[in-house]
Amino acid sequence: MAPAVSSASPPDASEVASLRAAYDAAGQGHVFAHWDACDDAERSALIDQLRVIGDVARVAATFARSVADHDAGNSSKGAIEPVRADASSTDPDHAPRWRDLGLRAAAKGELAVVLLAGGQGTRLGSSDPKGMYDVGLPSGRSLFRLQAERLKKLAELAGARGSDESPTKPSADDPPPASIPLYVMTSPFTHDATVAYFESHGHFGLAPADVVFFKQGWLPCFTFDGKIIMASKSAVATAPDGNGGVYAALRENGCIADMRRRGVKHVHAYCVDNALVRPGDPTFVGFCAEMGAEAGAKVIAKAYPEEPVGVFTTRGGKVHVVEYSEMPADLAAEKDASGELKFDAANVVLHYYAFDFLARCCDETGALASELAHHVAKKKIPHCDPGGDPETQVAPKSPNGIKLEAFIFDAYAFAKGPVAFLRGVREEDFAPVKNAEGSGKDSPDTARKLVSDLHARWIERAGGRVEGDAETELIEVAADASCEGEGLERLCGGRTFARGTCVDKRESDEGEKADKRKLAEDDEGAEDAKKQKP
Ligand code: UD1
Repeated sequence: MAPAVSSASPPDASEVASLRAAYDAAGQGHVFAHWDACDDAERSALIDQLRVIGDVARVAATFARSVADHDAGNSSKGAIEPVRADASSTDPDHAPRWRDLGLRAAAKGELAVVLLAGGQGTRLGSSDPKGMYDVGLPSGRSLFRLQAERLKKLAELAGARGSDESPTKPSADDPPPASIPLYVMTSPFTHDATVAYFESHGHFGLAPADVVFFKQGWLPCFTFDGKIIMASKSAVATAPDGNGGVYAALRENGCIADMRRRGVKHVHAYCVDNALVRPGDPTFVGFCAEMGAEAGAKVIAKAYPEEPVGVFTTRGGKVHVVEYSEMPADLAAEKDASGELKFDAANVVLHYYAFDFLARCCDETGALASELAHHVAKKKIPHCDPGGDPETQVAPKSPNGIKLEAFIFDAYAFAKGPVAFLRGVREEDFAPVKNAEGSGKDSPDTARKLVSDLHARWIERAGGRVEGDAETELIEVAADASCEGEGLERLCGGRTFARGTCVDKRESDEGEKADKRKLAEDDEGAEDAKKQKP
């Protein structure tokens, strides 16, 4: 991973002395082992990195806490209980009300969305940011584009709905969209390419001021006994701090302050590699808001014991996700009295935060910052020997060190108020794009088929017909026509669509405008009638 860029001037002697003292005190003085062999630029680069690391005693404490937690097997031990969802997103008696509540919150400017996009498409065989991946739908849309356009549509729907204080008239022509800021978390690997991609595509129609990019941080790598590993004589070996780095990164990059300034009350966070995700999901947001929840999750039923998804549980009265990589096989396969998987509330990274809770999670002096245990991954980490030749880098053949990763979901344990769970629908909420094309599981081919199947159902529900082979040919509905299957009757009713195409809104615009003109005339007629009343 690229360390911080070197500053031009040689480092200040008093700063170096105080850093050396701090590193010595924390038992990490070896990071200066090759200081004398470094030139000014290398020394500056090292000092820049140490500045980013900040309080080394705190980082060393995080390492110690995390390894102790790992060694105790804490992530999966300790009498975990299954979580059951409070309600279903398809409940006809409540879902429309939750959706309306979510739209109204968005219309008032109270909704923000956080997109976790620090990951690369390595498992997909691409070195680009995962979000740039074209999943192979008829339109060739990438994950970023699918998601951004759905958010744009949601902003339009919220603008058309209006808030309670200022409802929008149904006859209003082109009401302004709501402002729903999108905070995109990148990593040093994905940042520049992600920003350039959004910019070169006009932010996919989102207002540029509503798209904020912020970089997640990194942590030093450690030897098994807790010494910071040096990648070279002047560079600490580093690794991204995991998607749980979102909390520190939101604070450090001013995003929490920005949300506060905008009056955000509800935050929806999701991960980039889901081709069905609905950023800002109004039903889920409205449900959590109505529940007065501090935090919430939309979960789906786990499909099979080995499915690579974390599961929501409770432990000691606190919400706790057991990640798939840490779930013992016997617990994963355990069944309840009805024969269903006992731990089946699958985490599909659809997270809700009341703003105040999120701000607490991000607080540098808060409980999460000082108590959160990171997850331990034992890895092969190329290194320079502090006691050896400063110019030689060793490439180990077996794991020699530890990378620490924070997981976003560990924040739930810090909630003091209610945590709400909404049961979603797998076929509508989750099309993971994790593995290479053709691998048959959680790959672009399985994801685009899920999108196509859902969109075909939308068309048919709106009174249209879809022609072609459902197994081999795809159909797509562009988000400008519909982001959740809504409002397709005019466009699709009584029509037949051939697979291999993307249905978009253009064709229905004229009809919609005519409808609005008619509504406006009716409005005017009603106003005139009122005025004429004696
Ligand atoms: C993740 C979840 C898992 C869930 C599964 C569903 C976590 C820790 N795990 O697993 O519980 O069941 O998705 O698909 O959330 N990311 C960053 N920075 C990082 C690492 C990851 O931004 O340093 C982002 C990725 O871009 C991606 C998301 O976090 O959007 C999930 O990351 P990934 O490591 O691929 O998680 P999974 O193993 O799939």
